[in-house]
Amino acid sequence: MVVAANFKTNHTRASTTEFISFVNDFIANGNDKHQVRIYPCATAFDNFTLQSVCKVGAQNFYPVDNGSFTGEVGFDQLAEFDIDSLLIGHSERRHILGESQEFIARKFNFAKERNKEIIYCVGEPLAVREAGIEAVMQYLWEQFSDIDITYPRLIVAYEPVWAIGTGLVANIEDIAQTHARLREKIDAPLLYGGSVKVENISEILGVANCDGVLVGTASWQKEAFCNMIKLAQMIQ
Ligand code: PGA
Repeated sequence: MVVAANFKTNHTRASTTEFISFVNDFIANGNDKHQVRIYPCATAFDNFTLQSVCKVGAQNFYPVDNGSFTGEVGFDQLAEFDIDSLLIGHSERRHILGESQEFIARKFNFAKERNKEIIYCVGEPLAVREAGIEAVMQYLWEQFSDIDITYPRLIVAYEPVWAIGTGLVANIEDIAQTHARLREKIDAPLLYGGSVKVENISEILGVANCDGVLVGTASWQKEAFCNMIKLAQMIQ
């Protein structure tokens, strides 16, 4: 099981260091049953000493080792901090930053060729969800175009766009049904994301085929994130 924190554009370098050291101590204290991932802002990367189940990853990168791409971060810069885990396809990058499926697939293939762990995010807008499960699945499978779903270091995060940062959570039956449909073709771990918090994480992790969570807003507070790691420990 994976419990992951996506900081988005939150926390400073100082507060990230404090967060990571707090969470790492918590994990060291017997809370190490599951994999923990933390995706801070790139400005906060450092050579952290971490428990073996915990990794700090990158929310974003440009698919080059280095070059002339003003404002972007390539793999040479990530390598300096031993970054092994990457988020790709997050809805904010698709819908706010305008990343196309073609560009996302390029990022995926670049990371795959370098054998990185990839949390690959997919999710439908509200209008698609309202059109029913077949429309949802068609939308989601399009987000897998040119993506190797057999890549051994793939983790998939199903995150309905309308549930991200809104406080709205997909209902448990919809999560279960969507995960079951994804599972028909995908062997990789399947996470759920979208307004996961202390109050609902246990129910969500109890869903069949749900192998973890990708948490935004509710993960930014270190005590809450540790509480979620603790609640996940109680699930088999
Ligand atoms: P949220 O974000 O928990 O704030 O809804 C989830 C995500 O964007 O991964």
